[in-house]
Amino acid sequence: MRAVPVDGDPNGRNFLGRRGDNVEIYLEGNKSYMVKRIYAVYGASGFGREVMPSARSHLSKQGIESEIVFIDDSLTTDIVNGHRVLTYAAFRMIDAEEKFISIAIADSGVRERIAETCIRDGVAFFSIPADNAVILDQVEIGTGAIICPFVSLTSNIVIGSHFHANIYSYVAHDCVIGDYVTFAPGVKCNGNVIVEDHAYIGTGAILRQGKVGKPLVIGRGAVVGMGAVVTKNVSAGTTVVGNPARLLIKN
Ligand SMILES: CC(C)(COP(=O)(O)OP(=O)(O)OC[C@H]1O[C@@H](n2cnc3c(N)ncnc32)[C@H](O)[C@@H]1OP(=O)(O)O)[C@@H](O)C(=O)NCCC(=O)NCCS
Repeated sequence: MRAVPVDGDPNGRNFLGRRGDNVEIYLEGNKSYMVKRIYAVYGASGFGREVMPSARSHLSKQGIESEIVFIDDSLTTDIVNGHRVLTYAAFRMIDAEEKFISIAIADSGVRERIAETCIRDGVAFFSIPADNAVILDQVEIGTGAIICPFVSLTSNIVIGSHFHANIYSYVAHDCVIGDYVTFAPGVKCNGNVIVEDHAYIGTGAILRQGKVGKPLVIGRGAVVGMGAVVTKNVSAGTTVVGNPARLLIKN
């Protein structure tokens, strides 16, 4: 049996080796025991398919060779990009003691409902940082984050649970990002910005830096349109677009 580093185990146990069929062997005290684990990316649509290669690589780098499936409740095919696709109900039925999910669904409300269901069902979460994501000093990230390729999170940043940072986004120093926040591709979030829970920042948006003690705030559930240049606080639940960003008022 090959010894591999223990940091592959989310529960910090001493990993001894593996048998086929998703079974891994751990040491606790002087007893060894077997755990059957399975991982899933929830959502096999565009974003889920973009995330899966990073999930594969991230787990494999940690020595985890358990199967990774897609979960998709509007299942139209059994296999997507070489991975089994299961409904959530079928995933729950799988014979495995430990199940981990990362929710790759952009709608933050749906993401939260799925997360609540998983918690109720005893399904755990795992984060997916892309291999080339840059994460510098003192970055705290909650559970279930998806950090896509070419994303940078610089220093002294606090991020909540189930954050999505799509390709080429960055979060700069001293930002605080809430739960279920979504950054579309290429978001530039400069220093001293607070982005509250469930906010959605569109592709290529730029958030002006705040000041120490006077951060720029994007309110809870606010939407920043693609390409917007945000120079002032955005109120909770509102949508802003343009340069400089203004409230979107529909005719
Ligand atoms: C801002 C946004 C949320 C508005 O969506 P919506 O509520 O469906 O609004 P509509 O598409 O009906 O557009 C309403 C008006 O705003 C304009 N508008 C929409 N998005 C805009 C934007 N980002 N910047 C400037 N104007 C915009 C439309 O042209 C339209 O103008 P009109 O009334 O003069 O015709 C959306 O356009 C957007 O930017 N979403 C982010 C998309 C994104 O980043 N996707 C990433 C996928 S990974």
